Amino acid sequence: MRISHRLPAAGYRLLLFATIACAKPPTAAPEGERAVVRQPVGPVPGVGELPSAPNPLGNNRDVLQEGRRLFVQYNCSGCHGGRAGGGMAPSLRDRIWIYGSSPDHVFNSIAEGRAHGMPAWGTRLTDRQIWALTAYVQSLRTKDEPEAPKP
Ligand code: HEC
Repeated sequence: MRISHRLPAAGYRLLLFATIACAKPPTAAPEGERAVVRQPVGPVPGVGELPSAPNPLGNNRDVLQEGRRLFVQYNCSGCHGGRAGGGMAPSLRDRIWIYGSSPDHVFNSIAEGRAHGMPAWGTRLTDRQIWALTAYVQSLRTKDEPEAPKP
């Protein structure tokens, strides 16, 4: 008599508990599902361009020729394409500079390397060679470019 009286109440409580437990969705996203943010190392935009030093070698024909020769000799073209027009690495002929276009930015890209596959050349090349490469890279698309592709 007593037992049969209590049973429905216990069953009801169990049902209520089950409903609450199942209805509650998980609040936090599962581990490892965070959005991937591409974050370049190097100059960070925001504070405006800092004053930039000029290329100490200048950009006369000899310097540009030397840069062109190094570009081929060190196989920059293997990744950036023959006239630096792009390959598995981004074009250096277009107007887009991921890491900045000033001489010191370009110098740093070459010397320090960049996050997504650009090797650092600072230990293999002298500063002079890197400045010559910088001058060459900056001459692309201009009338001063040595051995420019035929239009
Ligand atoms: C192994 C392939 C590879 C070689 C060899 C290579 N690069 Fe790169 N380079 C890259 C990649 C990939 C990037 C883009 C890196 C990134 O987005 O973080 C890059 C980026 C750059 C940038 C920056 C471009 C920008 O938009 O800011 C410059 C400048 C550059 N390379 C010059 C050179 C020079 C000069 C050489 C030869 C001494 C060279 N690279 C050799 C793969 C290469």
